[in-house]
Amino acid sequence: MRNVTKDNITDVFKSYMSDETAPRMREVLGSLVQHLHDFARETNLTHDEWRAGIAFLEACGAIESEDRHEFVLVSDVLGLSSLVDMLHSRDDATSSSVLGPFHVSGAPPLPVGGDMKRDFGGPVLLAEGVIRDTDGTPIPHAEIDVWQTAPNGLYASQDDAQDTFSFHGLMTVGEDGRYAFTTVKPVEYTVPSDGPVGDILRACGRHPWRPSHLHYIVKAPGYRSLVTEVFPDDDPYLDQDTVFGVRDDLVMNYVEKPASDFPDGMVLSGKLTEPFLSVEFDVTLAKEE
Ligand code: BEZ
Ligand code: FE
Repeated sequence: MRNVTKDNITDVFKSYMSDETAPRMREVLGSLVQHLHDFARETNLTHDEWRAGIAFLEACGAIESEDRHEFVLVSDVLGLSSLVDMLHSRDDATSSSVLGPFHVSGAPPLPVGGDMKRDFGGPVLLAEGVIRDTDGTPIPHAEIDVWQTAPNGLYASQDDAQDTFSFHGLMTVGEDGRYAFTTVKPVEYTVPSDGPVGDILRACGRHPWRPSHLHYIVKAPGYRSLVTEVFPDDDPYLDQDTVFGVRDDLVMNYVEKPASDFPDGMVLSGKLTEPFLSVEFDVTLAKEE
């Protein structure tokens, strides 16, 4: 096309794709460019604003590393990560939620009834539940990868004072599909805001806080793996999670119970003197299609 105009440039872009372009690439890239061009036309984007956008992407690239995934964080705070999750969540299974950048794979095995708290202070939280199929049948031998912040609000990968797998555990449930472990109640914390993502949050008058949560990845052969989180229903940030990860079915009541109600068969059984918190969270997995 010799006469490219502001009105025909989107169609011209699409016409430049060849017959060899894979159909899905044509659909996704064509739509992305359509929306990008419409965005520039609708906002009458100026050169200064375009330059600021490029500078923002460059600043993300400059701090991107194995330990700092600023582009993923951009997607998180813009709600794109959660939207993609929800587009592919099944209505009959437990909702998925954001993975976040702090999961360390290869956690040591945590037996059913095990303890992730170790010597850390704070009230004991007993988390338990059953992994089920969509028809309610327990799924034997499902695997749960659990991780959370320490009481100082930091994940192991952010904190030199913690060992690599601090507050990480990999549990394989028994025949009854039941999991149980003790930990400390995670605290609310802030996503990293010392980079370009922090600039976006400040520009929008937004805070960087996430409500307290436990992260789970639940897997079982023949089922869709689920990345999810559990939130306490009294957290002040539930209605304003900066990465849009809260779903109704993931908000649970953490009940305070006297030490005498602590169940048998746990690593901490018989060792508690103070009241503890208890949360029941069952997980439903959908079969692989
Ligand atoms: C997290 O929950 O660990 C997290 C999720 C998204 C962005 C940053 C942190
Ligand atoms: Fe987290």
